[in-house]
Amino acid sequence: MEIVSSDTIAKFDSLSFDDESREDRELQKKRDFRELAFFVEGTRMKKIVSVLLVGIAIFTFAFGRPALAGDAAKGARIFAANCASCHAGGRNLVQANKSLKKADLDKYGMNSLDAIVNQVTKGKRAMPAFKGRLTADKIENVATYVLQQANEKDWK
Ligand code: HEC
Repeated sequence: MEIVSSDTIAKFDSLSFDDESREDRELQKKRDFRELAFFVEGTRMKKIVSVLLVGIAIFTFAFGRPALAGDAAKGARIFAANCASCHAGGRNLVQANKSLKKADLDKYGMNSLDAIVNQVTKGKRAMPAFKGRLTADKIENVATYVLQQANEKDWK
């Protein structure tokens, strides 16, 4: 351990003695530093948040719009060839209460791409399954068409 010379102690003493404002400045410096740290932290958070928001926006755009996933124009032709026999004009000629109109789709939990794709693929009671007859792409297109007709055009 180094022995501190009496000289140094004297210097140190004089410093802390005759310079009261030093403490103030030291405090001020600490406060400034804290403020700066808060500011930097805040800016960093803002950056992180905006990067996150952009990410979410891109994600939503890419994956969050299932209703537009298929091609409704192609779906219209698929509908005419495969569905219109029972669902002409969005009606249901086999079981009238289960039409393809918005109110009925809502009522039976069918107003979504997932639900329609699922039912068209697997069938349900008197409605035949289209798996093996229509590709997944075509089923998605026809479901998109059904949703568009039901929700935007009321089958007119
Ligand atoms: C042989 C007749 C028949 C054909 C062909 C048919 N469906 Fe259906 N569809 C039905 C019947 C019957 C139901 C009611 C099923 C049930 O819930 O018992 C139904 C129900 C539905 C529903 C749900 C309606 C609601 O209000 O709950 C949708 C959506 C649907 N069909 C779409 C299609 C699409 C798209 C096609 C063509 C790919 C198609 N269907 C072909 C007979 C048919």
